Amino acid sequence: MIRKMRAWKELMKLGLNVSKLRKDIDSFFRGNILGVLRNEGWFDYLQSPRTLMQIAAEFRYTEIDFLEYLIGILIEDEVIQENDGQLFMEGPIEFDWTCPSCFDDAMRELWVDHARAIPDRLRGRCLQFTGGLNLFNWDDALSNKLYEQIRRAAFAFSDALKEPVRFLDVGSGNGRGTAAIWSYYYENDFFFPGSPMQIVGIDPNEKLLRIASEEFPQMVSEYNGHDLSIKDTVNEFPVEFRPGYAERIPYEDESFDIVFASQVLHWTEPKLAITEMMRVLKPGGFLFGTQNFYPDTNMYNEAHFKVVEGVHGFFSKDDMEEWAMESGAIAFETATPISVFKVTKGPS
Ligand SMILES: C[S@@+](CC[C@H](N)C(=O)[O-])C[C@H]1O[C@@H](n2cnc3c(N)ncnc32)[C@H](O)[C@@H]1O
Repeated sequence: MIRKMRAWKELMKLGLNVSKLRKDIDSFFRGNILGVLRNEGWFDYLQSPRTLMQIAAEFRYTEIDFLEYLIGILIEDEVIQENDGQLFMEGPIEFDWTCPSCFDDAMRELWVDHARAIPDRLRGRCLQFTGGLNLFNWDDALSNKLYEQIRRAAFAFSDALKEPVRFLDVGSGNGRGTAAIWSYYYENDFFFPGSPMQIVGIDPNEKLLRIASEEFPQMVSEYNGHDLSIKDTVNEFPVEFRPGYAERIPYEDESFDIVFASQVLHWTEPKLAITEMMRVLKPGGFLFGTQNFYPDTNMYNEAHFKVVEGVHGFFSKDDMEEWAMESGAIAFETATPISVFKVTKGPS
């Protein structure tokens, strides 16, 4: 209970009104996709009833599963009507577009880019996580305050700062989050001579990884009010950044006391990723992080992720619990609406 309250306290520092935020997020992701489909010509074409295959032929779409998935969202949202296999739009479709206050310019542009990639995705051209994303927006978006506060909420919930540990940050991106994590351990005096404290970051995106490797001491210094003296400690206790996927972690079994994944699992094949993260955990260790779960997610939001190759999308807490338990967990706990989670591995 106390851990849950501590997690809430961190999120409340964002000063957000949760129901307004949810409304703005819904409007933003919905507006992005409807805007792209309107520009693509769907709104005019569907003034007359058409079959799914007619839509595919008209717009030269080859990915019928993805088209079906997208149309399923629009039917559920009553943007498209369906009658006996015929799809159509009734009258003008109204939509607004409000950018959530906690999204900065880079975050907004990043999602607009993803929505714009939908027609390509329908024609069989996916974005690639390894190098294919707009680095400019991604790099900036990862310093968003939202990420910092949800990460702090996850730490408050999990009691991850009790002792020096071997810590794996899965999906460490450009290293900004890892620099914050390094600093939390630094604040707790865990980088002393002979300390077993070690932080490792893995990510499949080579460009983000390069930024992490090259700029990490600078990021830690910035995170700590431009304290340059901290760089000596960073050099003594450097973070090891390696290329790697959550589904294929380049470390042996039972290598880490703690594994962390923040806003990463929806980009992965989550059952594989959870099994793999549990594999590299020592007995008695834990996996924790942040994740949005079904049903508290927005279907238009999920469609934005699915322009990237291999992305699975959201899943439920029940699914995650089942996968974790099958991989040796003895406890699965969550808290707060942008959920923080903790999965404890059993003794050997
Ligand atoms: C929203 S960012 C989160 C970055 C970081 N965890 C943070 O909180 O600042 C998602 C990250 O997941 C990484 N990613 C995507 N697919 C992945 C996979 N299959 N395994 C591990 N990481 C992945 C991306 O490259 C990206 O850096």
